[in-house]
Amino acid sequence: MADATYYIDEDAGQDSKSQTGAEDSPYKTLGFAVLTHGDSAKFLTRKSVTGDVPEGSDASARLEWKPAAKAAMKKAVNYVKTQQKKAAKEQEQLAIRAKEDADRQKVHDEAKKIIIEEDKSLPAPVRIKLDDTDPAKIKLGNGSDVKGTRVRVFGRVHRERRQKEVMFITLRDGYGFMQVIFTGPLAKTYDAITLTRETSMEILGELREVPAGAHAPNSRELHADYFKIHPGCKAAGGDDAITNRVSKDTEHATLLDLRHLTLRGENSSKVLIVRDAVEHAFHVVYKDLRMRKVSPPALVQTQVEGGATLFKFNYYNEDAYLTQSSQLYLETCLPSMGDVYCIEKSFRAEKSLTRRHLAEYSHVEGELDFITFEDLLEHLELLMCRVLEETMSDPLIKQYVMELNPEFQMPERPFMRMKYTEAIDWLVEHEIPNEDGEPHKFGDDIAEAAERKMTDAINRPIFLTHFPAEIKAFYMPKDKDDPRVTESVDCLMPGVGEIVGGSMRIHDYDELMEAFKRVDIDPTPYYWYTDQRKYGSSPHGGYGLGLERFLAWLCKQHTVRDCCLYPRYFGRCKP
Ligand code: 4AD
Repeated sequence: MADATYYIDEDAGQDSKSQTGAEDSPYKTLGFAVLTHGDSAKFLTRKSVTGDVPEGSDASARLEWKPAAKAAMKKAVNYVKTQQKKAAKEQEQLAIRAKEDADRQKVHDEAKKIIIEEDKSLPAPVRIKLDDTDPAKIKLGNGSDVKGTRVRVFGRVHRERRQKEVMFITLRDGYGFMQVIFTGPLAKTYDAITLTRETSMEILGELREVPAGAHAPNSRELHADYFKIHPGCKAAGGDDAITNRVSKDTEHATLLDLRHLTLRGENSSKVLIVRDAVEHAFHVVYKDLRMRKVSPPALVQTQVEGGATLFKFNYYNEDAYLTQSSQLYLETCLPSMGDVYCIEKSFRAEKSLTRRHLAEYSHVEGELDFITFEDLLEHLELLMCRVLEETMSDPLIKQYVMELNPEFQMPERPFMRMKYTEAIDWLVEHEIPNEDGEPHKFGDDIAEAAERKMTDAINRPIFLTHFPAEIKAFYMPKDKDDPRVTESVDCLMPGVGEIVGGSMRIHDYDELMEAFKRVDIDPTPYYWYTDQRKYGSSPHGGYGLGLERFLAWLCKQHTVRDCCLYPRYFGRCKP
């Protein structure tokens, strides 16, 4: 309506479809009024006064309706044009999207019509894991005169790519990877064209050599003749696709929250597969060394390595702790079982966020009866080297270690031996200060940074021995030749630092009681440990090796957090 009049009250009006634009139902902006009614109507505007009227101003003058100024009309018309263009573009986009959706739907509908069925006239398939290369079971075809074995495999889509009418899938089953090729109707089915990463599949087909010059796991590829995705086994796609949840750019904390997904990555799974092999190797070597496995409790009422790192909890209204080390229990097994070991969890309420500290870690601990300190060092050297040999004797594990840590070299025996006092001299000579910024002196606990600098500079395994009693645990005996120091050892590895802590144990009852007194620990709850010294004591010793630290060194991982399944450390107890 050309002569209609609309009202705009910049303070009290509202830009909404519920307004009519009449004097008692004004709009807020001229732009909205013109957008709603066109620019040929008459527009009256005002700024009503809300709140306090400033002193001296004429409130009634501001309440008058005035025709919209020319400049304001021009601005409003431009605003309307922009809005209309935007709306047109949106419409266009919507139409494009609708067409794409319709086209996709058509393609999907067509694809759904393609029903594939297993050809029962083909040879019965042999079920294999993806790393199976047993020539007694599997023959590779060459695509012409030699037919390959028909196999049945199961796995998840690790990667997929399309090339015209052909689909290439890398399947993963935790044992290995296999390149799979879909051609013909298989590549055109609905399940194939909508395939998402991590979807689980069952695939049947013929195994052939890869063509000359091409590369694929085990130099072979599966030419599929049939596949099946079991109901409920398709992986999420779109925004929820795994590639949108974890990628190279995802923050470290998020990756840890999504550890259950990052575990599927190649690096994480290699580290954990190497870990399995290392744990197995410890068991094998321990059996060779005639050491017996025991399983001490995790819930305890005594400390081993100092009160500062104890996790305390209420145990049926008594104070109890998560164990820091199984050592004291291992010692009690010597008289009846001979030399013993365990691979159990130890817990440390570490409040520091370093790359080598966990709150829960796997502790490989051994205890040996009737030995000398030198015997202990030789045993440790032998154990570590034999475990490495056993681990690397599996070609796949060796391949994984070398991929993760290309510079890995077997350590040379004997390991370098260095007394604590020599380490102090070395640190002073190399101007590496202590934690107070002063030159190191006897009695200093060598801090993590200084220890690592020294280990990295020396760049080979070191047995650092004979620490002062004051900086070590209560159970360590004094060295007969230098009572300032103990028969103790830390094994230091380049890149990580301390991976093993061990010592001889005080085996004399009175001496042990003195030691309890020195560190102000009540020996009463340790009656089962002190009795050991009453009933046939013996010179004995042992050690604890941090499995995650050993792995961080072997697999060259920056942090021990990447060497366990679900790391627990200061501030993290999930997933
Ligand atoms: O030197 P530690 O504290 O020695 C003991 O617990 C002895 N009672 C063991 C024994 O003689 N049976 O710890 C031994 C090893 C360390 O060298 C280190 O590798 C690992 O346990 N360790 C940790 N690993 C990860 N996170 C932590 N917070 C660790 N604390 C110790």
